[in-house]
Amino acid sequence: MWRWQSAGTSQGQQRAQTGSACQAGHNVKVNVLCSIRHYCKKSPKKLRVSEALEGSDVGSNITVEGWVRSVRSQKDNLFVHVNDGSCLQPLQIVASSELNDALLTFGSAVEVTGCLKQSPSRKQPVELLADRINVVGGCDTLEFPFKIKERHGLDYVRQYPHMRCRTNVFSSMMRIRSAASAAIHSHFTERGFIQIHTPVITSNDCEGAGELFQVEPSGQTTEPDKNFFSVPAFLTVSGQLHLEVMSGAFSRVYTFGPTFRAENSQSRRHLAEFYMVEAELAFTQSLEDLTKVMEDLFRSVTEQVLDRCSEDVDLFHQRVSPGHRAVVEAMLKKSFTVISYTEAIDILNPSSHSFVFPTTWGCDLQTEHEKFLVKHCGNLPVFVTDYPYDLKPFYARDNTDHPLHTAAAVDLLVPGVGELCGGSLREDRLDLLTARLAQAGMEDTYDWYLDLRRFGSAPHGGFGMGFERYLQCILGVDNIKDVIPFPRFSHSCQL
Ligand code: 4AD
Ligand code: MG
Repeated sequence: MWRWQSAGTSQGQQRAQTGSACQAGHNVKVNVLCSIRHYCKKSPKKLRVSEALEGSDVGSNITVEGWVRSVRSQKDNLFVHVNDGSCLQPLQIVASSELNDALLTFGSAVEVTGCLKQSPSRKQPVELLADRINVVGGCDTLEFPFKIKERHGLDYVRQYPHMRCRTNVFSSMMRIRSAASAAIHSHFTERGFIQIHTPVITSNDCEGAGELFQVEPSGQTTEPDKNFFSVPAFLTVSGQLHLEVMSGAFSRVYTFGPTFRAENSQSRRHLAEFYMVEAELAFTQSLEDLTKVMEDLFRSVTEQVLDRCSEDVDLFHQRVSPGHRAVVEAMLKKSFTVISYTEAIDILNPSSHSFVFPTTWGCDLQTEHEKFLVKHCGNLPVFVTDYPYDLKPFYARDNTDHPLHTAAAVDLLVPGVGELCGGSLREDRLDLLTARLAQAGMEDTYDWYLDLRRFGSAPHGGFGMGFERYLQCILGVDNIKDVIPFPRFSHSCQL
């Protein structure tokens, strides 16, 4: 005795439906195969859409679950596209029009069972001849913010942070982000780096810029000496100092996690919560040692992302930032340029470009300057080294041998974004570091940091790369809020 895997339909009806669906595809053989499988009472194999599209299960009875991307009903046949987020392409479902249902609309959640067969159309490799379509969750298309067949711009979809993962463009972004994240971990693991989970709550202000979010239990006023952690505690602005501790035992370490800055900035490249990749290397003597590691990270991660997510990346390079593919290819082909801060000022000063911010020696480089320098260097990544000492935090190594007072610090500037990475050699000379901390009145606070120089100190350095800015750079995305699942920025913490 065999049974159809149907819900609420009679056997005869179901058999007729499958028959018509299979005939629509002119594949009687497949139909027979399907029937045999039903006869064997074998429950259908559950596949992701990406697995079904691979085609190795052609001839099998399968179930897929996902969300409807389009519905087209003809006289006899129904064509439905289902996507489950496993890849950009949807799976085409072909069914008898009798399986149509008022609830089967764009955006609804469905579970479809049927026979996977090769598609007669060149648009897709396979299609699913459905004998059952179960609408698990309906979707009111009038209320749903996205409309069938409309290409909504990033500005529009950003208004729906809880819904935008249902659009092609944002789901591609999330897959790329996931692949890039995995590539970063494998990049460092393959090169012998140890991953360190640096703390999110910390009492230090690594960058000294005062852009800190303080952490206290809710509902309590922060009176002096009554801090929950006994000292003022903050969300981390960088894992660097903790990595420096660990590099003193493991030589090469990295961290990749959420980072927080209370910057009152509404810019297209700043967030209050972002992800930073940071690496620290002991026994590092020169900035060149560091720039090699930064360039290697950029290249290897980008190559892996282009390789593993080619369809998703193409969607960005074709629809969001046409022409950006060539920029990325040029970045991968040519070596990154290296210029000193002093050379950068020499480039900026005589330019006919009228900048809003000053470009005299000693001024910090602003986004407008960074973008100009990148263009000047052929729209390719450029390392800017040896910044004025006073611009850099206490940990940066003093270039005591330079005629101008500079620090051994480096930023990597990239097309479209400006600053992508910031790093430096760390001041490893106890006397100089003590003097600098004393000058800032921080000698006691950082006594533990001085210990790192007292006991088995080795010259070392490291850098941090903004993960969201990295994604902006390789995909040509203008607004940083479009490359993170749930953006947090001043005046906005939706969801
Ligand atoms: O240049 P930054 O401030 O460097 C540091 O924090 C060092 N302690 C890192 C280290 O040496 N381990 O930040 C590093 C990078 C920037 O170049 C930028 O790409 C990104 O982090 N970044 C931000 N990304 C998004 N939103 C913000 N508010 C960011 N602030 C910095
Ligand atoms: Mg910086």
